[in-house]
Amino acid sequence: MKKISIIGAGNTGATAAHWLAERELADVVLLDVVEGMPQGKGLDMLEAMPIIGRDTHILGTNNYEDTKNSDIIIITAGIARKPGMSREDLLKTNAEIVGKAATETLKHSPNAIFIVLTNPLDTMAYLTKKATGLPRSRIIGQAGILDSARMRAFVALEAGVSVENVQCYVLGGHGDEMVPLTHHSNIAGIPLKEYFPADKLEAIVNRTRKGGGEIVNLLKTGSAYYAPSLACAQMAEAILEDKKLIVPCAAYMDGEYGLKDMYFGVPVMLGAGGMEKIIEYKLDAEEKALFEKSAASVRESHEALKSVVSL
Ligand code: NAI
Ligand code: 2OP
Repeated sequence: MKKISIIGAGNTGATAAHWLAERELADVVLLDVVEGMPQGKGLDMLEAMPIIGRDTHILGTNNYEDTKNSDIIIITAGIARKPGMSREDLLKTNAEIVGKAATETLKHSPNAIFIVLTNPLDTMAYLTKKATGLPRSRIIGQAGILDSARMRAFVALEAGVSVENVQCYVLGGHGDEMVPLTHHSNIAGIPLKEYFPADKLEAIVNRTRKGGGEIVNLLKTGSAYYAPSLACAQMAEAILEDKKLIVPCAAYMDGEYGLKDMYFGVPVMLGAGGMEKIIEYKLDAEEKALFEKSAASVRESHEALKSVVSL
């Protein structure tokens, strides 16, 4: 059985464990600093397995040794947004937490592939890459699957069609400057730009960009976790099953789309090697300008990181 360790057993971590356990993809280790909590959640999930007939083993722990020989490490540890906070407000606290989580897990699982969820996402993925020194194929950030799923949900609601007919691609940094593509995104092959009048499409794009904040404002005590954790589970599944799945994820850019030495949301191919390939779309002038604006805000966040940790 393969092994996935999830660092941070809060809302996203525990829910990712839930989705993964249900799929019987791998044994799951759930690690947190809070004593008893990951053990309790792990045991509760283990006790659910007979009901759905899954032989997944789930272990909650506070000890990094229990993560040894993991195939995949999912980092969700850190603090989440509250109303009025941006993802960037989390940077200093989460940099300390993620840096430690990355180096501690690597000691016990030298061959693992890392999926990073903690915010600010692009910068926490960048930190994980710099802290571990691993090749870019083994450090991938989750943002684009979530942002694209949000857009797909809003499009399906507006058009009154099945979500299965809707394909959306939201690229760029995981912030308010993210780039929902309206030409490549489509309903049963019809580009959204042709399907919707401009004002309807603009409303969908704006709601997508602010999708995380919409949920923070409703929940008041934290941020979204069902969809984000399912996105992590989809990434883990694509890697463990060598699916060659093309999905938008945050990847380390080395010249693609004209960007270098930064994490950014682009379509990637996920397979046994992790992030196996970056797919380059042809962008029009308007999309290029939006890309550049989003890249500028991610670069700013990477610079802010460099002022709080030495890389
Ligand atoms: P949460 O507060 O429910 O859980 C975070 C957990 O991390 C807590 O249980 C806490 O005890 C634990 N933790 C803190 N320091 C730790 C350490 N040093 N080692 C191990 N565990 C530690 O928060 P939630 O909702 O799970 O969100 C986690 C992070 O994921 C946040 O930064 C949030 O902004 C981010 N996020 C990112 C998304 C994305 O699309 N990239 C989507 C949703 C959340
Ligand atoms: C979201 O987009 C908080 O980044 C998280 O829901």
